[in-house]
Amino acid sequence: MPPKTHQILSTIFAALLLAACGPESSKSDARSGEAPAAPAKERPAALRLMQSNCASCHKLAPGGDGPVIAPGMGEVREAYLAAFPEREDFVKAVTEFSKNPTKEAALMKQAVAKYGLMPKLGVAERDLKAISEYLYENEVGTEAWLHSLSAESDVPESEEDLSYEERGRKYALGTKQALGSELMAAVQERGAAGAVDFCNIRALPITDSMSTKYGAVVRRVSDRPRNPGNRANPEEAAYIEALKAAKAKGEGLPPLISEKAASVTAYYAIETNDMCLKCHGGKDIQIAPETQAVINQRYPKDLAYGYDVNEIRGLFVVEMPR
Ligand code: HEC
Ligand code: HEC
Repeated sequence: MPPKTHQILSTIFAALLLAACGPESSKSDARSGEAPAAPAKERPAALRLMQSNCASCHKLAPGGDGPVIAPGMGEVREAYLAAFPEREDFVKAVTEFSKNPTKEAALMKQAVAKYGLMPKLGVAERDLKAISEYLYENEVGTEAWLHSLSAESDVPESEEDLSYEERGRKYALGTKQALGSELMAAVQERGAAGAVDFCNIRALPITDSMSTKYGAVVRRVSDRPRNPGNRANPEEAAYIEALKAAKAKGEGLPPLISEKAASVTAYYAIETNDMCLKCHGGKDIQIAPETQAVINQRYPKDLAYGYDVNEIRGLFVVEMPR
């Protein structure tokens, strides 16, 4: 790979990790997709949304290595442009599919056969629409697009400018992306039963390496843990209850920030999607018997089953030095 491209790729990768996630990306925002098209100056915000919500599975840059677990964003764009050349139809089709992926609605039948159906993500419709508009207008996945990005020098703000809430969100998102894409790759390669071993062995080290990278400690906790070492403490459990109560009323809650003398701790909800149910859904319903057998063997005190999609599964706890 020529050095220039390499440099641009690392910039994109850094941008992906750094993808700051402003209030416009909050999942709890229930505003529907009726907002007018984003003016040109807001487009980088749409790109950041794509980086933080889609890039863990869909590669945005051409080429590159790492496990391939979904078609590249450029391939998705081409398939949709061929079927929906008009802007309005394109945006509607991409938004609708991303909001609620079904085999029937899928255009890329071969991709469904190869990778499995895209899981439901729970991203706000308004954000999906902004992402779809960006995808229509920009040749995502091409060298030309990469170069236009580096020309715009869309450099994310520096760490020091971010509030603890934004920094914590960034670390939590980085961990979530690393875990999510590795997990999906593991499920595709070995099936859910094989991937339980992967989770057992790998989930903690991944969390650790992300934490080291950011000089912060990122943990996952739950009120119904699979691994007893991940049990929420009373403060965390209280926030989980508050999140569940807000969700039952159709509301969202801002992340909880707790400031102590030497550190600031931020808590972010972890919610379930379709992919999680293979291992956290109903026993013998979504969790296959062979997966259950591995879980029983490794986690005799497992409480992390019986979930449906879009439920509070636990928290990312991000402890940042002051
Ligand atoms: C957890 C991994 C994952 C994430 C995150 C993800 N996707 Fe996907 N997506 C897939 C997979 C796998 C496919 C291929 C199978 C399919 O078509 O459903 C896919 C396919 C698609 C397709 C083509 C569907 C079709 O077959 O017609 C669209 C459109 C799409 N994704 C949009 C998005 C958008 C927009 C985002 C971010 C908001 C996103 N995806 C995030 C895994 C993911
Ligand atoms: C392939 C099976 C598998 C899938 C799929 C899976 N998990 Fe897990 N999950 C596990 C295992 C095994 C553990 C225990 C890891 C450990 O020992 O720390 C775990 C632990 C967790 C924990 C830490 C708290 C606890 O219960 O120990 C959270 C939070 C979590 N998973 C959320 C999710 C979410 C959200 C998804 C979907 C995006 C998901 N998991 C998908 C197997 C899976």
